[in-house]
Amino acid sequence: MGSDSRVESVLDELTTEEKLRLVRGRADPTGRATGFLAGVDRVGVPPLRFVDGPLGVRDGKATAFPASIAVGATWDPSLARRLGAALATEARAKGHRVLLAPGLNVIRVPTCGRNFEYLSEDPRLSARVGAAYVEGVESNGVGATAKHFVANNQERNRDEIDVVADERTLREVYLPAFRAAVEAGASAVMTAYNRVNGTYMSEHAPLLRVLREEWGFTGITVSDWWGTHDGVAAAKGGLDVEMPGVSPLDQFAPRSRLLGALSTVGLSERLGIDPPLYWRPVDRFLADDGQPDPYPSAFFGDRLRRALESGAVDESVLDEKVRRVLGLYERLGAIGRSDDPPVRSVDRDAHHDLAREGAIRGTVLLANDGVLPLGGAETLAVVGPNADEAKIGGGGSSEVTPTRATSPLVGLRERAPEVTFERGTERVPNPSMFDTPWDTLARRVRSGGDIGSAVTAAAAADVAVVVVQDAATESEDRDGMALPGDQDRLVAAVADANPRTVVVCRSSGPVEMPWLDAVGAVVQTWYPGQTDGEALAAVLYGEDPGGRLPVTFGRRFADYPVAGESRYPGVDGRAQYDEGVFVGYRGVDRDGVDPLFPFGHGRSYATFVYDDLAVEHASDGLEVSVTVENCSNRAGREVVQAYVSPPEGPVDRPERELGGFAPVALEAGERRRVDLSVPRRTLARYDEADGWTVDAGTYAVAVGRSSRDHRATGRCDLGESPNA
Ligand code: BGC
Repeated sequence: MGSDSRVESVLDELTTEEKLRLVRGRADPTGRATGFLAGVDRVGVPPLRFVDGPLGVRDGKATAFPASIAVGATWDPSLARRLGAALATEARAKGHRVLLAPGLNVIRVPTCGRNFEYLSEDPRLSARVGAAYVEGVESNGVGATAKHFVANNQERNRDEIDVVADERTLREVYLPAFRAAVEAGASAVMTAYNRVNGTYMSEHAPLLRVLREEWGFTGITVSDWWGTHDGVAAAKGGLDVEMPGVSPLDQFAPRSRLLGALSTVGLSERLGIDPPLYWRPVDRFLADDGQPDPYPSAFFGDRLRRALESGAVDESVLDEKVRRVLGLYERLGAIGRSDDPPVRSVDRDAHHDLAREGAIRGTVLLANDGVLPLGGAETLAVVGPNADEAKIGGGGSSEVTPTRATSPLVGLRERAPEVTFERGTERVPNPSMFDTPWDTLARRVRSGGDIGSAVTAAAAADVAVVVVQDAATESEDRDGMALPGDQDRLVAAVADANPRTVVVCRSSGPVEMPWLDAVGAVVQTWYPGQTDGEALAAVLYGEDPGGRLPVTFGRRFADYPVAGESRYPGVDGRAQYDEGVFVGYRGVDRDGVDPLFPFGHGRSYATFVYDDLAVEHASDGLEVSVTVENCSNRAGREVVQAYVSPPEGPVDRPERELGGFAPVALEAGERRRVDLSVPRRTLARYDEADGWTVDAGTYAVAVGRSSRDHRATGRCDLGESPNA
C-alpha cells in the first residue's frame, strides 16, 4: 500500500477520540521521553517518543556534543550533518523517534540565555549549518524539529513577549534558517513561546501558513512545552500537536516520581539509576522563574473535543492534523509496529571522537601573540574557578548527562610536563533548570580560591592557562556581557604576573575582555561538551582549530544594534525589532562600531594568501572562486568567506552580507581553488509588495577571513532580474 493510502486508511478507522490522542501529548509511562504521543494501538499506531535536544540526547547518559554555537563556529555543514546523524543514532537507540533540535533562532541579543543552543547571528550561516544538521538527523530514521518558530530571540519574558517586526525583517533575517530546515526535510517545526505582532506563535496562522503554503512543509507543527494558549485559535491557526499536553504534575508518572525522589536524596547515583528527565521541574514550574504557566494544559483534549462538538472547529481541521501526524509515523516507518524497540547500539567511543572533532573545529583562536601553540616542554599553571570541570553546556532543556568527561585540567595534565592548579576565585555555578537545594549546597561547599595563590602559581610557570566561563541558562538572559564574579580581575592579575597567559573562554556567546591587550592568547571554546579538556589540549598543542566567530564580539552591550530598552528587553511587553535587518554585524557595520572581534574572525596557526578571485553570474546567483594558499610550514584550516554588497537600491541594505563560505583544510604549502556559490536568494531583498527582489546593478564581492578582513575583491553586474 502506498504511504498516502495507508495514512488515509488508518485515518478512516479512527474515532474522534482516537484522533485526539494523536494531536496531544501525554505522560510517558516510562518517564523518559520529553514528549510522548500515546498512539492508537488498535490500528497499529504505536507510541511516539520525542526527546531534547540540540547538545545531546536528554535521556540518561548520552554523548555531550559541543554546543550548537560551537557547531555554528565550525562553518562546516558536513560536520554538522555528521553530528546530527550521531545524535539521531543515540536518540533512536533509546527508543526516541523525534529529536527536539536544532535550535534555529538567529542570535539577536548577545546575552540571550540560549545563544549556546543556536547557531549564529547570520541567517545564511544558520541556514546552511542548520539544514545539514537536519539532514543528518533525518538520515538516521529520526525526525528533526526546527525550533523555535519564530523570533524567540530572548529568554527574558519569553513566554509573553510580543515581537514587533516587519515582514521584511522576518523574511530576511529570522525565517531563512527555518525555510532551509524545511527544505532539508525536517519532520517537525516547534512553535515558539513568544508572540509576533500580537499573536502567540502557537496560533499564528499567517506565519504557520508560510511553512505549508510557501515552503511546502508536510511535517508536523508542535507547540513548545506549555506554549499553547487557546485550543480553538491554535487548532485553526495551524498547530498540529500540543505538547506536552499534560501539566507537569500529571506528566510525572509514578515511576518517574519515585526515581526523582531517590535522586533527590542522592540514592539514584549510588544505585546506578539514571534520574528521569522530568521530575525536577515540578517545584520550578510552581515558582515564578520565567517558565510559561503550565496550567491549564491540554487544550487539544476536552476543549478541542467540545469545540468539535459545538462546531467551533470543523472535524476536517482535526483530520488534517492527524493526517500529518500519521504522515510522520509513516515516514519514520512506524505504522504497523506494536511498539518501537531500540534498534541500534551506540558506538560511544566513535561518538566521543566525533564530539572531540566538533569541539576542536568549533574552537576559535581569537588572539595569539605567538605564545600558542605550546611547545611541549613548558610548565603550566592552570588557573580558573572551574578549570577542573568539563563545561558540558548551559542550563535548561538541553542539559545532557555525559558518557564521560575531561576537564581542561585533566586534558592539559596529559600533555604538559608539570602542571599546577589554582582556582583563583569563587567557583562559577553552572546554572541548571533542574537544580535542587542539594545542588545549591554542593556549589557552596566547592567554591573558594584566591587570586594571590593563582598569581604565585602563574609567576612560577612558563605559561599560565586561565579558564574562565559565563553562566547561561534557558528561561533567563545573562545580566550583562561581563564574566561573572571576579574572573576579570583574576585574568588581569595573572597576566600581570606572566605575560605568557592564555585565556580559555567557555561562554554561551560574546563576553567582555577588558584584559585583552595584556594576555598572550585567547581561545574561545564555547561550551565544548564532554571532550572539553581533550579538545583544548589538542588545540593548545598545535592542532589548528578552524573555528570562526558565528557572532560578533562587541566590546560592550552598547555596541550591538539591539541596545536600547524598546528593542531589548522591550517595553510594556513589546520588543521592537526596529533595527530591522541590521542584526549582528549588519548593524555593527552600519553604525561604524569597532568590535572587539568581528563576525567571521578566527586565527589559524597557518598563514593563508588569496589570489585570482573570479566572480561570475550564474543562473542561480553568483559563482565565486578564489585560490587560497597555505604559505606556512604547517597544516591549517581556513574558512573562506564571501561577503556581498548590493547596488544602491530603493531601500537601505546592509553594507555587506555573508553570501557564501567554505571551510578548507590545507597542508603546508598547498594551494587550492575554492568555489563558493552565492544563491540568488541571498542577493535578494524582500519587498512587501513584490516579494523577493533582486535589484539590477553591480554587486561587489569581498572574499577573505572575516566580515572585516577582506583579501580579494571583485564585482559582477546583474542585469534586469525581476524577482528571485
Ligand atoms: C524549550 C524547548 C524544549 C522543550 C521540551 C522548552 O522549555 O523551549 O526547546 O524542547 O522545553 O523540553
